Amino acid sequence: MIDLNTMVDPDRGWNDPRIYTDQDLYERELEHVFGRTWLFLAHDSQLPKPGSFIQTYMAEDPVLVVRQRDGSVKAFLNQCRHRGMRICRTDAGTSKTFTCTYHGWAYDLAGNLINVPLEEQAYRNEIDKSEWGALKVPRIANYRGFHFGTWSEETPEFEDYLGDMAFYFDAVVDRFDGGLELAPGTTKWVIDCNWKFAAEQFASDMYHAPVSHASAMMALTEDPNASGGQTDPNIPGRQFGGNGHGSGGFFKPEAVMKAPYFGDATYEWLRTKEDEHRQRLGPERVLKVDNHNTIFPNFSWLALGLSTMRVWHPRGPGQVEVWAWSYLPKDAPDEVKAEMRKMTQRTFSPAGSFETDDGENWTEIQQVLRGHKARTSRFHTGMGLGYEETDVHGLPGTSNYVYAEHAARGFYRRWSDLVTGTPWAQIQKPNRASEAADAALTDKA
Ligand code: FES
Ligand SMILES: [Fe+2]
Repeated sequence: MIDLNTMVDPDRGWNDPRIYTDQDLYERELEHVFGRTWLFLAHDSQLPKPGSFIQTYMAEDPVLVVRQRDGSVKAFLNQCRHRGMRICRTDAGTSKTFTCTYHGWAYDLAGNLINVPLEEQAYRNEIDKSEWGALKVPRIANYRGFHFGTWSEETPEFEDYLGDMAFYFDAVVDRFDGGLELAPGTTKWVIDCNWKFAAEQFASDMYHAPVSHASAMMALTEDPNASGGQTDPNIPGRQFGGNGHGSGGFFKPEAVMKAPYFGDATYEWLRTKEDEHRQRLGPERVLKVDNHNTIFPNFSWLALGLSTMRVWHPRGPGQVEVWAWSYLPKDAPDEVKAEMRKMTQRTFSPAGSFETDDGENWTEIQQVLRGHKARTSRFHTGMGLGYEETDVHGLPGTSNYVYAEHAARGFYRRWSDLVTGTPWAQIQKPNRASEAADAALTDKA
């Protein structure tokens, strides 16, 4: 197995590519990264009334997320405690109880075992049902209607976990008086690549856009000179990175820009909301925070207009299952919602012109990493290294120029801290990864 102390070096700017292929390391990720971080479960709009439920995953673990009678949200492992069958096999719906289709054990909305068929004859009334409820997700945080869960008691409270990223998350989730909703249904697809390529790119990588998305941008704008991102060095932009999270984009001269991502109806309606946005977010933030984002480890979204929000569910070191939604302003007219959904589908859906560009890159890399030499030659992650600044341009936290790998380095630093099993209480301690790399280099000398 790869040496856990020398997998990544965010202080010098390199990664060992085996972090994307190693099966043993993947098992550690499931336990130490996904088992100890806040993972997105559901949005309020997906659980409209008591008994509403959806099935989702926390990494590879299937979970049921359920609206309780008191309005709270609970989640539990979607696994029957009798012999391990999935308790509920429906993607989403409303129910009063969940009955396992194998032998019929039944659970209530909180996952408590409430009925066992033939309890008297088969179990002689000796089974203690209170001991055999579904495994509960012990902690759930509701952040502006977005519910996140963690298995771990040691993970910091969700707002501390977000840190400065809250400012960037709020730029989308706190933008509208009426809040957001996720369009009904989940778009799901599988990409043959490691989950980190996707999560890291959404945290950090604007650099690929002018190259990878050049043709998609030309098609979208009908402009033969268009590129997939602004290349004019005079247009400022920033990339925030902190606590493993990342956010970035170019600054805009106006909060709502005509095209390329807004249809006419959307543009006109958003113009009427500009004051509301300025009031809620402040005049700076509406112009400066946008575009690509990841909350560590695997929850990402893109700017309003592209309106995609997704979870990268890991499926082994070489595969990721994407679950994506169009996020929409709840109080937008139907015509605007329909137009936004179309734009998400056109750009960032399994057949979307931009999405397919991204997937092509990631699957190619994963293919190349089948090679032994390819897998053991370091990757460069040093763009903008040393050019971080704190609290500049009215943006909280540490940021860098928009074309940088600042957030990527932070992503891998947090990932490496977690995957090595470091307790949360020590994780904020700086420079541990570089100390380990130094030690390794000294050993070789
Ligand atoms: S596995 Fe669920 S009742 Fe037997
Ligand atoms: Fe992209």
